Amino acid sequence: MKKLKFGIIGTCCRGELGDYAHQTANGVEIVAGADIYEEQRRSFAERMKAKQAAVNIYADYREMIEKEKLDGVFITSPDFCHEEQACFALRHKTAVYLEKPIAISIEGADRILRTAKENRTHLMLGHNMRYMEFTNRMREIILSGMIGEVKAIWCRHFVSYGGDAYFRDWHADRRNTCSLLLQKGAHDIDIIHWLANSRSVKVNGIGSLSVYGSIPRRPAGCERLDTLTVQGVWSNSHWPPEAQKDYYPEVNNEDLNMINLQLANGVQACYLQCHFTP
Ligand SMILES: NC(=O)c1ccc[n+]([C@@H]2O[C@H](COP(=O)([O-])OP(=O)(O)OC[C@H]3O[C@@H](n4cnc5c(N)ncnc54)[C@H](O)[C@@H]3O)[C@@H](O)[C@H]2O)c1
Repeated sequence: MKKLKFGIIGTCCRGELGDYAHQTANGVEIVAGADIYEEQRRSFAERMKAKQAAVNIYADYREMIEKEKLDGVFITSPDFCHEEQACFALRHKTAVYLEKPIAISIEGADRILRTAKENRTHLMLGHNMRYMEFTNRMREIILSGMIGEVKAIWCRHFVSYGGDAYFRDWHADRRNTCSLLLQKGAHDIDIIHWLANSRSVKVNGIGSLSVYGSIPRRPAGCERLDTLTVQGVWSNSHWPPEAQKDYYPEVNNEDLNMINLQLANGVQACYLQCHFTP
């Protein structure tokens, strides 16, 4: 059996999922990781040591891809890094597992798809809800004809941990994400289209920064929230929202959205997302 060698770009938080791919008995190994932050590189090294995996660690992902001759790379860095990192890996014929969202602009997403096609290299997006038991069951029921033809889809997502997850770090600034409809809603909106088996042709919506705009923020210059401590920062007992503090220095993403979708096959859908519900 050919051994497959993988690397991880963005080694902590979501990057920790890459650890599961280290399965020597199945011929798959994590052999390298790249992260711009030293403490994340150190944490990755410790995790890999515990798995008795020999890994090379890099501060620059480009050096990792050029030196390691990887079969594939997991890109689990923040959204605004995806376009550059994915295109670089694909140009080097390295297969890419790319976390959602694919990119933060339509042009960026097109560029990634074009680069994968031109280089005939595999690209897989992290729309993991397509592999969940309940979404698969819903699709099975629809495809079986049991409920007849789909005419409408409603999805309401109350994100109880929205303040902690999206307003304490880079997610809070739309320059890093485009919007939380893309950053978080990407999962649900993907599933709406998958279940309806069509694409949107018309969309209207409203949104606002209804609550988190007035929470006290960290001063400019304190953008970085140590991702190793993020777990400690998340808590379902953080209530009420107005009692929070130390949010990201720039908060401009909306925390409330309501959109209506008209799909090409006549299905109508609506999506509601709220980030300050308990
Ligand atoms: N599919 C899902 O359900 C799901 C869940 C959570 C996060 N995500 C996605 O995973 C990605 C990472 O999210 P996160 O919350 O773990 O972010 P994060 O801020 O914790 O960063 C993840 C890792 O990337 C590193 N990093 C930051 N900038 C980097 C750079 N320029 N080059 C290399 N590494 C860099 C960080 O140090 C960290 O180790 C996002 O795109 C997010 O949308 C997907």
